[in-house]
Amino acid sequence: MLKAVYNATTTSGSYSFEERMGCGFGACMGCSCKTKYGNKRICKDGPVLVKEEIIW
Ligand code: FES
Repeated sequence: MLKAVYNATTTSGSYSFEERMGCGFGACMGCSCKTKYGNKRICKDGPVLVKEEIIW
């Protein structure tokens, strides 16, 4: 759903990737998301990422 919103909008903004997570403290990499700045762990580096850095 977030990807659909991303594709439908032209304005900048922030996206919250909050969801159920494996460990929740950065050890399992189960919540990693590709960004312009490398993979980010949603539990440690998020859960909010800005639109411009997200790679779907
Ligand atoms: S939930 Fe394990 S690294 Fe984020």
